Amino acid sequence: MTSISLSDRIPARPAVATMVLLSHKQDKGAHVIPVEGLSAEAVSYLDEHLSALGASGAADEVIKVTGVPGTDALVLVIGSGLDAAPGDEDAEAVRRAAGSASRALAGTSHAALLFPAATPALLAAVTEGALFGAYSFTTYKSKDGTAPVGRLTVVTPDAKSAAARKVLSRAIAVAEQVTWARDLVNTPPLDLYPASFAAEARKHFTGSKVAVRVADEKSLVRQQCGGLIGVGRGSARPPRLVTLTYKPARAKAHIVLVGKGITFDSGGLCIKTADGMVTMKSDMAGAAAVAAATGAIASLGLPIAITTYLCLAENMTGSDAQRPSDVVTMPNGKTVEIINTDAEGRLVMADGLAIGSTVKPDLMLDVATLTGAAMVALGGRTTAVIGNTDDIVEQVISAAKSTGEDMWPMPLLQEMRPSLDSQIADVKHTGERWGGAITAALFLQEFVGEVGGTQIPWAHLDIAGPSFNDKSPYGYTPAGGTGHGVRTVVALAESLAG
Ligand code: BES
Ligand code: MN
Ligand code: ZN
Repeated sequence: MTSISLSDRIPARPAVATMVLLSHKQDKGAHVIPVEGLSAEAVSYLDEHLSALGASGAADEVIKVTGVPGTDALVLVIGSGLDAAPGDEDAEAVRRAAGSASRALAGTSHAALLFPAATPALLAAVTEGALFGAYSFTTYKSKDGTAPVGRLTVVTPDAKSAAARKVLSRAIAVAEQVTWARDLVNTPPLDLYPASFAAEARKHFTGSKVAVRVADEKSLVRQQCGGLIGVGRGSARPPRLVTLTYKPARAKAHIVLVGKGITFDSGGLCIKTADGMVTMKSDMAGAAAVAAATGAIASLGLPIAITTYLCLAENMTGSDAQRPSDVVTMPNGKTVEIINTDAEGRLVMADGLAIGSTVKPDLMLDVATLTGAAMVALGGRTTAVIGNTDDIVEQVISAAKSTGEDMWPMPLLQEMRPSLDSQIADVKHTGERWGGAITAALFLQEFVGEVGGTQIPWAHLDIAGPSFNDKSPYGYTPAGGTGHGVRTVVALAESLAG
């Protein structure tokens, strides 16, 4: 990962040959945002160049300027898309601009970021965005391409304060885990399958405060995990259930996280089209997100206990593949009639939710690339949030807001539940076509347990759209795996930690 440090002054040439500034929109043009240590002369020189080059200050704009008075460094000016210099409420625009800056700096060994970063919120935005944007996945390139920027110096007035240092170390801890989640999602399914995902989790958490337990297929049969066993039947590579536990002293709450880890989704016998299968290595992004969030919560030392279940299986068409009309029995004793084998995610998640309920957490979150219907409803950049109380949905949405991850509520409409009634089993696993993200959540709810006669507060995050970017990179979002969801789960844990 790119290394990053803070400085209270602008580093001098020759160590730093590139400086990056932020601009905002002004009168159909762009205006560079002054920071301490940048002369008025330099600002007006830059503004003249922005105007001559037709800069607009729009997000993702990168303008290169040389000959700036007082420095012989190359200066990049990144558009923020804002109408004025940012306040704390504009943190996400700054985070994205810092990401664009990092992407533009690929191939540079050391650069200074001269963004407005005088408050903790803006400093967090600059450091996070810069680290998230510096991501690249090169494992499968035979030749070394352009390397991400090697080193970044973020200039901020009180670089030496404890508060600033804390902001930086949090950004690094979160970025390390987001990077891991992205790497997992980008890894081809030939190499990432249930057992190798479990082994990778073991390796990742060795020497950390997170304990890892792996249940193999025999253990899954004993635990009556009808979902994982059923979905895994069609693959030569058997399913796994990985349990991660983080138990800090004096925990203020206990959260269960459940992640969908379909390492490849062919659709099973109800096979997908060729086009529909192309991005399906990313069908384990929920498991990657909750695993990474667990890692971040542990490395930040938050006083929140976490038990995380990674529901890992490969959905294939082998000769023992699960059939529509099969009936499977789940860990909570409920029987499920299989309808469409391409609705495999909710089956493996049901096992995780049922087993997660037995530890009686204060709340339960699941993260899954569950339905195309969530994308039809909300598009490719927004997560659908569905929960069994208004309160938990609000908590998730407000945590998401603080991170810049876009999330939006959808109703858990009980009137739609009859479409899951089965003639021969307790429940069918798919309902009517309309509102498919909601019926999927209603199915999951069947496996959320009760504590003291009330259902455990539970929210379901359908990340089908934002987990994978099959288009061009933007802001701090790379092409491919995005790590979406990690930061919202961490922010929610932080809000519970108080
Ligand atoms: N993994 C898919 C959902 C998905 C689709 C995620 C596109 C990301 C992008 C899931 O397993 C699936 O196939 N869902 C079906 C459910 C249907 C058969 C009820 C769907 O959404 O079409
Ligand atoms: Mn599917
Ligand atoms: Zn799937």
